[in-house]
Amino acid sequence: MGMITYLEENKIIKIDTNNTTYAMQIVRDKFVSHIYYGKKTDNLENLYTERPLSFTTYVASEGVAFSLDTIPTELSFFGSGDTKDTAVKIKNQNGDSVTLFYYQKHNIYDGSKPIDGLPYSKNGKATLEVIYYDAVSKVKLYSYYVVFPESDTIVRYNKLTSENDVLVQKIASCQLDINASDFNVVTFSGKYCCERLYTEYPLHIGKQSIYSERGHSSHHFNPFMILKNPNADENDGEAYGFQFVYSGDFEIQAEKLANDTTRVLAGLNANTFAWNLKNDLVTPEVILTYSDKGVGQLSRNYHDHLRNHIIDPKFVFKPRPVVLNTWEAAYFNINEEKLYDYAESAKKLGMDTLVVDDGWFGARNDDSSSLGDWVVNTQKFKGGLKAFSDKVHSYGMNFGIWIEPEMVNPNSELFRAHPEWVLVSKDRPYSLGRKQLVLDMCNDEVIAYIVDLLKKAFDGVKIEYIKWDFNRSLTEVGSSALTVEEQCEAKHRFVLGSYKLHKALTEAFPDTIFEGCSGGGGRFDAGLLSFVPQIWTSDNTDPVSRLKIQYGTSFAYPLSTISSHVSKTLINKVEASPDYDFRFFVTLAGVLGYELDPTAISAADGEKIIQKINLYHSIEDLILRGDLYRGEFSPTAYSFAVIAKDKSSLYAVAYDLTDKKSATLKINGINDNVVYTDDSGKKYTGKQLKKGIKVNVANHSAFVYLILFGGEKR
Ligand code: DGJ
Repeated sequence: MGMITYLEENKIIKIDTNNTTYAMQIVRDKFVSHIYYGKKTDNLENLYTERPLSFTTYVASEGVAFSLDTIPTELSFFGSGDTKDTAVKIKNQNGDSVTLFYYQKHNIYDGSKPIDGLPYSKNGKATLEVIYYDAVSKVKLYSYYVVFPESDTIVRYNKLTSENDVLVQKIASCQLDINASDFNVVTFSGKYCCERLYTEYPLHIGKQSIYSERGHSSHHFNPFMILKNPNADENDGEAYGFQFVYSGDFEIQAEKLANDTTRVLAGLNANTFAWNLKNDLVTPEVILTYSDKGVGQLSRNYHDHLRNHIIDPKFVFKPRPVVLNTWEAAYFNINEEKLYDYAESAKKLGMDTLVVDDGWFGARNDDSSSLGDWVVNTQKFKGGLKAFSDKVHSYGMNFGIWIEPEMVNPNSELFRAHPEWVLVSKDRPYSLGRKQLVLDMCNDEVIAYIVDLLKKAFDGVKIEYIKWDFNRSLTEVGSSALTVEEQCEAKHRFVLGSYKLHKALTEAFPDTIFEGCSGGGGRFDAGLLSFVPQIWTSDNTDPVSRLKIQYGTSFAYPLSTISSHVSKTLINKVEASPDYDFRFFVTLAGVLGYELDPTAISAADGEKIIQKINLYHSIEDLILRGDLYRGEFSPTAYSFAVIAKDKSSLYAVAYDLTDKKSATLKINGINDNVVYTDDSGKKYTGKQLKKGIKVNVANHSAFVYLILFGGEKR
């Protein structure tokens, strides 16, 4: 059976992944009703029902039984009888915003199409295109469903085209009407230094939404929501996921209605978005998944999807650099002599890449100046970047560097030359964030200038790694490059421009690995991950806080994307001295790096660091490719295992923040009859590990246990 099937008799379109089915039905030849999303099934009979209700409007031509307010739909339209929040709203040439599209036809084809200008999921197996038309606005709507059977994911997005010049006021990428409402909502919310904390609450009547209006996906809400059965846990129960592939303003919303149904809408934030349809519009993607094996399986679906279809295949499974980043070691106080010492010491500790963070350019000695002046500071780097990089390489280290290309300080040569190149609302004062302004990414000239300047700055310099930062939110968004009527498009155009910049710079440095960053994890999303294989997770490097941040991050994003550094930050600022082993174990939910002065490390700590980096290399492949099975998570305890796809090896880590001397470690996701041997030679069957084994305390400031197994089939 194909992955997308049209059942002519009932006019049902059925989409199958390996373990799930999604289905819709064309009704009355004009409308598309959603009839099913869940566990794989062939039984799609009698799912469509019309639900006439007193005091409900109905479509006059169809009779009293047919109300758009009560039938579940694939897409809903503003002002035409569906009184819930709707997916599409278009301002007609007559001035009103009544919107109503009719189904015209659909096409099913193999593979998937590229999307121009936006990040998108590659190598879909099959695509369904449902075409709608509105004869009043003369707008054509193409709704896409791309199937990824192995990861049990379906990607949805929409395209609008028109012969008329009309204004799109809202266009969600995905709508899901569910004939049930007993759900818990899970979001990943927080703030600067506390990103993506797991937050779960019951869905109640009305709309519960997460969103960003900050111009980046933000520290505050990650563009990702789970709707789960209240009893679903890591390993059991039903859960739906909605992940937006976009780095700017968004909204994901679940609306529970009094008739015990739920509507989910996900896409661009209609509060900050509008689009003149003289230019075609393609929405960003939403990646949908469904799991009846708990939120653990839902996460693994997303991890597989991002690794196989979003992240650049050139880097996704490539061992990542173990960096020494200068930020927490020296902040702006850097110069070549100091950094040569860092490079030499870092090499001895087993690190492989020296990353020069903020402060290497212009007159930048603090955060008050020089963003935009991407020219090396020759007081700090006397021989220039090439000589510096060459010398760093002579110590056997690779070289990495920090940039923040979308930003400019008012105190900079660039701003003095081009004050018109920043986002600002005409005739209004601007707000500052970290003493900086935002460059106008709606303006191709600005993009070209920055690309050119950075290419010149790095010309001939061997650079293996670039950290790309973004340290403020957008305000007063107006662009001198856009017409009056186009100003409403500025926020989306900014993100499209930022993607152009990412494309140009990653293509200009094709062998360099890029790391995303935004004041820590303020732009941690699937859109950015299509340009960078990893993202700096948070500026909070307190290891205890990190446990929670990394735990939340792991729900949507694979461990290989979670950049995680050992630093000297003291736990709750009260530890006597940093316990580098504990910090290392915390990083095992991500890819390893360091933020410390390597010249100031004692011989004993140095030995620990060397050993741990060797250990990291021995499990690196699991971090890049393995399946994550989270264990318990409480304010004081957390454990997880990462298991090879073929179950042949695994590592498991348990953390306990109390002073317990032993704990039980349970490992899910393995086969009962495989015998696993730990690093001390002790043997356990998969069955025993699933039931839980007692492990003893290692001697760290907080309890940590790492256990490595190689498995053998009996
Ligand atoms: C914010 C980042 O999150 C930090 O790691 C560091 O790069 C600073 N910016 C530099 O200004």
